[in-house]
Amino acid sequence: MGSIMLELNGIEAFYGQAHILHGISLAVGEGERVAIVGRNGAGKSTLLKSVMNAGPKVRGEIRFDGMSLGTISACDRTRRGMTLVPEDRRIFTHITVAENIRLAQHGAGPGRDLPALDEVIRAFPILKDLTQRPGGQLSGGQQQILAVARGIATRPRLMLLDEPTEGLAPVIVESLAQEVITACDRFGIALLLAEQNLWFARQCATQVVIIDSGQIVFSGDWAAFDASAELVERYLAV
Ligand SMILES: Nc1ncnc2c1ncn2[C@@H]1O[C@H](COP(=O)(O)OP(=O)(O)OP(=O)(O)O)[C@@H](O)[C@H]1O
Ligand SMILES: [Mg+2]
Repeated sequence: MGSIMLELNGIEAFYGQAHILHGISLAVGEGERVAIVGRNGAGKSTLLKSVMNAGPKVRGEIRFDGMSLGTISACDRTRRGMTLVPEDRRIFTHITVAENIRLAQHGAGPGRDLPALDEVIRAFPILKDLTQRPGGQLSGGQQQILAVARGIATRPRLMLLDEPTEGLAPVIVESLAQEVITACDRFGIALLLAEQNLWFARQCATQVVIIDSGQIVFSGDWAAFDASAELVERYLAV
């Protein structure tokens, strides 16, 4: 791991009275890719939203580039170089694919060397013939790829990517894995990925964290993961 970019120390997260995350501590290095895996309801999305300050009430410390983020807004976190590609995508339906990408780039704030639209489309070829189509006229899968492309287009230093493979055809999942790692390497983006698809998580990430009922129950590389075969049965089998 390079120097530490994101560091979570003892994160607790709440929706109202519901206490969802319990003492989550982890780190993501510069340019590193980490996968968070776990069953439905384990707390993966809550964790990504907590990092972004986009929903749950959070206690504990989140440091980015060594600085404690405290209560700074999701918007300010975006300006510092984090992007969340959320579970629900939030594609704008009445503007085109190209406009969705440009709008996101506009919101990224100044001072980044943003990729040109062409370059983004080249990284995600599925979008090639769709650039002038309204977002609302894409299939669910195409919207998902657009959401990922839009995240990359803002050239964050850290992308928080929430279950990008959900509902995608297997052949698309395969190409998406390659596209994500190529784009992250090319643009120097670190990745914190929430995923239930273990194949995709393994393709994309070098480190894996299992969460169960809002707690970390395993953290390590894939060799360590494979050495504890019972983990899958215990925490990941449905
Ligand atoms: N807005 C909310 N208000 C109250 N409880 C919530 C809210 N969002 C999620 N929860 C609860 O928090 C827990 C963790 O949910 P979360 O969405 O983080 O799980 P997940 O691991 O992302 O699951 P999935 O794989 O289904 O997306 C669940 O018990 C869920 O019911
Ligand atoms: Mg989720």
